[in-house]
Amino acid sequence: MTRIQPSELKEITDLIFEKYGYDFRNYAMSSFERRVIRMLDLKHLTVKSLLKTLSDQPSFVEEFLKELTVNVTEMFRDDGFWRSMREEIIPTIRSEHSKFNIWHAGCSSGEEVYSMAILLAEMGLSDDSRILASDLDPTMLVRARVGSYPLKSMETNEKNYAAFRKKAGTLRKYYTEENGRAVLRRELQTNISFVKHDLVTAGTTHKFNLILCRNVMIYFNQALQNEVLIKFHKSLEPSGFLAIGSKESLIWCDVASKFSVVNSQEKIYRKIKD
Ligand SMILES: C[S@@+](CC[C@H](N)C(=O)[O-])C[C@H]1O[C@@H](n2cnc3c(N)ncnc32)[C@H](O)[C@@H]1O
Repeated sequence: MTRIQPSELKEITDLIFEKYGYDFRNYAMSSFERRVIRMLDLKHLTVKSLLKTLSDQPSFVEEFLKELTVNVTEMFRDDGFWRSMREEIIPTIRSEHSKFNIWHAGCSSGEEVYSMAILLAEMGLSDDSRILASDLDPTMLVRARVGSYPLKSMETNEKNYAAFRKKAGTLRKYYTEENGRAVLRRELQTNISFVKHDLVTAGTTHKFNLILCRNVMIYFNQALQNEVLIKFHKSLEPSGFLAIGSKESLIWCDVASKFSVVNSQEKIYRKIKD
């Protein structure tokens, strides 16, 4: 089995950072290594030839990014989470603000963002909300902007949506079928901006009432998770909500005492202190 020495991984992450500005130096290294090995096998490369290709062919870095990042996502993944959004979190935000802002950080191909857009439409709140959806991977952002998914993937999305609603219902009214794909209705995008944004290297500017960053920090080491959580805390309005993935936690981080737990199972927190 191919193995990569820690010093070789360091050479790869240093090169990507210095030449392209993507900073993977504090990602969880075991999963990062697995991904690099997959890329080496796929392209029949050695570490040495990978370094040379990365160095000589700037266009290769996007292909490499696609392999390095985990992009798995679904619409309405984790039904309890979406019920909590519909029954508790969004109504609370709405009761305190006539207009509100949501940030999906690490939005991948957009399924989670469109789930939120559908939820807001069903709650009659599309015009009162703005969604910023960001990811570091440009290939994923293109997919998210286009909003067209294989029809086959809609089976899982439909199952999730039915589980979330706990009653019959279908997503069909939100898409049209075109050449074996489900093309989401353009109206769903009206209040969404898709932007490239790297959680590691970028600072904070805007403020949000709700930030969702689910299943992204799981690929970071603890020090990096800590840094990013500090940025999220800064980016939240007073009493704003933060939602992270079900396998993630913030109880150990520096800003933990500045949040209260709203839903421990669904990993939803609320900013209580500046
Ligand atoms: C597993 S997907 C999560 C998608 C969605 N949030 C969900 O839970 O369904 C993880 C996403 O995080 C993105 N990502 C990884 N590192 C990032 C970074 N430093 N800045 C922004 N996005 C990042 C990846 O490109 C990928 O699209």
